[in-house]
Amino acid sequence: MATKSSGERTLSHAEARAFYDRLGARQDSQAFYEDAATGILLRHASFESARSVLEFGCGTGRFAEGLLDRHLGPDARYLGLDSSSTMVGLAAERLARFGARAEVRQTEGKPELDLEAGSVDRFVSNFVLDLLSEEDITRLLAEARRVLAPGGVLALVSLTRPFTPASRALMAGWRLVYALRPALVGGCRPIGLIERTAPDQWQVRHHERLVRWGIPAEALVTERLPGA
Ligand SMILES: C[S@@+](CC[C@H](N)C(=O)[O-])C[C@H]1O[C@@H](n2cnc3c(N)ncnc32)[C@H](O)[C@@H]1O
Repeated sequence: MATKSSGERTLSHAEARAFYDRLGARQDSQAFYEDAATGILLRHASFESARSVLEFGCGTGRFAEGLLDRHLGPDARYLGLDSSSTMVGLAAERLARFGARAEVRQTEGKPELDLEAGSVDRFVSNFVLDLLSEEDITRLLAEARRVLAPGGVLALVSLTRPFTPASRALMAGWRLVYALRPALVGGCRPIGLIERTAPDQWQVRHHERLVRWGIPAEALVTERLPGA
């Protein structure tokens, strides 16, 4: 197990890969609470003007399919990355009909990406940061800043800390389960997003927290400011 600096355990890359290889297409059953949060990104990240979209942890390619079908222009390109070979296979199959507009690649799970600096204008990651270690989250956000062109948009959704009675009750149980065995909840634990984007590096375009079926999520759309 990898360990957070706070002492909280997170899944190692190998454990996360094994879990999501086993979960496969059943990941899509999470749509009942995920879609309300990812819909916020669709409304606020100006995908219609995007040229090059990167998704980190693309899962089965469900978000990408909607993006390519209804939001991206015909010349925009999509690249999905995921460490699970099962997820990469499912996403590649789902997105095959988009031809050269969409590509899916398997990674080793490291936050450092084999992409040129400034080469994308949207960096998306839905329900992935909440299963990464604190160190990986920091490295991934630095990498997002590196691969995004100035003015590019970082669009994130994550499980977040509870803020309503229903979400407090549900997340108390979630926390207990996570402490016993993180894999039972997909390795995901509530985190905060907005405090991780420094105001001298990112300009917030939209920030929202919501609860669906007791599950609290945070959506953040923030623009990469110029500078190193
Ligand atoms: C909770 S699922 C979310 C999938 C998808 N984004 C969605 O919202 O349906 C987490 C995804 O992140 C992938 N993943 C986990 N750790 C990763 C890592 N270190 N690098 C790349 N992908 C990772 C998993 O394989 C899985 O597909």
